[in-house]
Amino acid sequence: MSSPIAIGHHEPPPLLVLYLLIHLLLGFQQLCYSLGTHSNNRITAAMPVPCLPDQSAALLRLKRSFTITNDSQCTLASWRAGTDCCRWEGVRCGGANGDGRVRSLDLARCFLESAAIDPALFDLTSLRYLNLARFERLKHLTHLNLSDASIQGKIPVGIRHLTNLVSLDLSTTFYLIDQDDYYLSFGTWSDPSWWVVEPNIGSLVANLSSLRELYLGRVDLSDNGEDWCTALTNSSTPQLQVLSLRHCRLFGPICTSLSSIHSLTEINLQYNDLYGPVPDSFADLHFLRVLDLADNDLEGLFPKRILQNRNLTTVHISYNTNIYGSLPNFSPDSSLTTLIVSSTNFSGPIPSSIGNLKSLNELGVASNDFRQELPSSIGQLTSLKLLEATGAGIVGTIPSWIANLTSLVLLRFSNCGLSGPIPSSIGNLKNLTRLELYRCNFYGTISPHIFNLTHLKVMYLHSNNLTGTVELSSFWKLPHLFSLNLSGNRLTVVDGDVNSSHVNNMDILRLASCNMSKFPDALRHMSFIHYLDLSDNKIPGAIPQWAWETWSQLVLLNISHNKFSSVGCNALPVDIESVDLSFNQFEGPISSSPIN
Ligand SMILES: *[C@@H]1O[C@H](CO)[C@@H](O)[C@H](O)[C@H]1NC(C)=O
Ligand SMILES: *[C@@H]1O[C@H](CO)[C@@H](O)[C@H](O)[C@H]1NC(C)=O
Ligand SMILES: *[C@@H]1O[C@H](CO)[C@@H](O)[C@H](O)[C@H]1NC(C)=O
Ligand SMILES: *[C@@H]1O[C@H](CO)[C@@H](O)[C@H](O)[C@H]1NC(C)=O
Ligand SMILES: *[C@@H]1O[C@H](CO)[C@@H](O)[C@H](O)[C@H]1NC(C)=O
Ligand SMILES: *[C@@H]1O[C@H](CO)[C@@H](O)[C@H](O)[C@H]1NC(C)=O
Ligand SMILES: *[C@@H]1O[C@H](CO)[C@@H](O)[C@H](O)[C@H]1NC(C)=O
Ligand SMILES: *[C@@H]1O[C@H](CO)[C@@H](O)[C@H](O)[C@H]1NC(C)=O
Ligand SMILES: *[C@@H]1O[C@H](CO)[C@@H](O)[C@H](O)[C@H]1NC(C)=O
Ligand SMILES: *[C@@H]1O[C@H](CO)[C@@H](O)[C@H](O)[C@H]1NC(C)=O
Ligand SMILES: *[C@@H]1O[C@H](CO)[C@@H](O)[C@H](O)[C@H]1NC(C)=O
Ligand SMILES: *[C@@H]1O[C@H](CO)[C@@H](O)[C@H](O)[C@H]1NC(C)=O
Repeated sequence: MSSPIAIGHHEPPPLLVLYLLIHLLLGFQQLCYSLGTHSNNRITAAMPVPCLPDQSAALLRLKRSFTITNDSQCTLASWRAGTDCCRWEGVRCGGANGDGRVRSLDLARCFLESAAIDPALFDLTSLRYLNLARFERLKHLTHLNLSDASIQGKIPVGIRHLTNLVSLDLSTTFYLIDQDDYYLSFGTWSDPSWWVVEPNIGSLVANLSSLRELYLGRVDLSDNGEDWCTALTNSSTPQLQVLSLRHCRLFGPICTSLSSIHSLTEINLQYNDLYGPVPDSFADLHFLRVLDLADNDLEGLFPKRILQNRNLTTVHISYNTNIYGSLPNFSPDSSLTTLIVSSTNFSGPIPSSIGNLKSLNELGVASNDFRQELPSSIGQLTSLKLLEATGAGIVGTIPSWIANLTSLVLLRFSNCGLSGPIPSSIGNLKNLTRLELYRCNFYGTISPHIFNLTHLKVMYLHSNNLTGTVELSSFWKLPHLFSLNLSGNRLTVVDGDVNSSHVNNMDILRLASCNMSKFPDALRHMSFIHYLDLSDNKIPGAIPQWAWETWSQLVLLNISHNKFSSVGCNALPVDIESVDLSFNQFEGPISSSPIN
């Protein structure tokens, strides 16, 4: 795991705001109530039943346990004794005409604090939708969403007694730090070493016989060992529809008995360390819509039968390099919207019937042994937002029909046999945010048309055979670009005119083997840079002192194989993990150690 650098996330999502609050207010418990559906928003002519006295008394005691701070978005001014509590801010009561009992409490946006929640909360026995601790007394709860809540350590035991639960979400949000192929690391908005843990998933769900949705994203399940799957299927969850265990440190095989839970509609086991085959019996899950097994170590033949299930909307198995198989013919009545089998050992002909998949939004294909061009029928799939192709068997040039796929947001041809120039028609794909054409055999110069792609955030063109001189300043005109990799071509990269404020968006800049003979001036403005690779160039002289002052967030620095003569710094950035200064022309002692 690397340290959690929020690559490309200069603006944190709203969740982060909540998180920062939690972590800044040490000693307080941050409360976040959220709810599923309101059950009483129908307008009726009859007089609604006002709030029952015990309900308003409980709410008023609860109010006293909150601290309203400068950050609070609600003052709860409407929460006053003697008024109808069913009309108070964030409160809703149950029943068609109201039964005077609090059914839902929604203070999610209020940012209230509380050192200790008043147990009066548990007098609101009609509550259906709420996020909180001390669950066991909330017998009627059907939906519990504690995603990104401030629980740490083991999942509270009380949850096991909520026998009416239909939906349980204990996920922690995480993001990927994309550094390299086949090497993923993850970050969270909170402390990365901080995991919610569940050593016994079987016992967690044993009494939750009504459960239909189980989301445990980034809950550490590794203590369950290889038995996690049978432990789950041995338990009584006969109605389970959604099983989502993303990035849970799971290892071991997927048990065939998982398909004994006939109700399953979604299986999501992304980003684990699962090995062994994909059970053929998944094809017998008649209600299955989503199968996501990407980023594991699964192996063997992928059952073609699964791909023929016409109910499936999503099959995602990429980054399982030992899964092999081939695509079947697709009929027009297929429901697939996502089909990603790239970065696997898939091979065999890619059927032109893939053009029948009119609803397809995301397509990733692979061909390793079988040499073929991409079928032109893909050019008819004009709803595609993502297109990937991998494997030495994908040959030919970038097809002209690519210019028709104007909805594309991500285009990735990598580790492939494609060659020829990058066509200027790529400049038509105005919605692209990621253009990744790497480790193939592309040659020729970089077409200036790609600088028309003003939504680009990521551009990877490394490890091809591109030639010509390219000015870095052309890239700085792309206002959202934060990650650029031009390494390992036959390009000559020069500075150009540094005249753009966009330079300081850069997070990742990899310019290895780019025939550079001067330290790029633009680096002076890159105060958010985390990864910088300038290795294998011909840059002479001293590393400027401003560099060390500017790059305060640097995590990786590689300036090996250059002609540098002086390091010129006293201390390295605090978060630095890797520095490579080898094969330069440094002389004499390094005065004070640059290593912290
Ligand atoms: C809250 O806001 C007031 C007025 O703006 C200010 O005087 C006070 O210091 C703030 N309190 C905190 C804890 O930030
Ligand atoms: C739980 O809440 C989060 C944040 O509001 C939301 O993204 C997620 O979809 C919810 N989970 C379920 C199962 O509804
Ligand atoms: C970028 O370029 C480096 C060489 O500097 C290469 O090793 C690496 O795999 C590339 N990958 C990404 C994702 O940037
Ligand atoms: C399930 O409920 C039964 C009866 O209430 C109880 O004896 C048992 O301990 C519970 N199992 C778990 C794993 O909590
Ligand atoms: C699941 O049940 C089978 C048969 O009852 C048993 O042999 C196995 O040990 C159980 N596995 C777990 C992990 O509980
Ligand atoms: C598709 O789903 C329906 C129910 O929605 C089911 O009856 C049918 O058997 C499923 N088809 C397949 C091929 O599993
Ligand atoms: C890829 O699949 C072929 C069979 O299609 C197999 O012979 C080969 O060993 C596999 N390679 C890997 C790395 O799994
Ligand atoms: C691409 O679009 C053009 C114009 O809309 C159309 O004439 C052409 O047939 C399309 N090409 C493919 C391969 O779909
Ligand atoms: C491009 O993106 C914009 C904004 O998201 C969207 O409105 C537009 O429809 C997209 N264009 C295509 C061709 O999909
Ligand atoms: C795209 O870039 C080319 C070359 O830089 C330029 O001639 C052309 O006008 C640009 N087109 C648009 C629509 O911006
Ligand atoms: C790169 O292109 C040159 C000719 O322009 C060719 O000689 C060389 O073999 C190519 N290298 C690769 C790795 O394809
Ligand atoms: C550089 O920026 C200045 C002011 O922002 C502008 O006047 C000038 O035209 C720019 N030069 C180039 C070459 O873009």
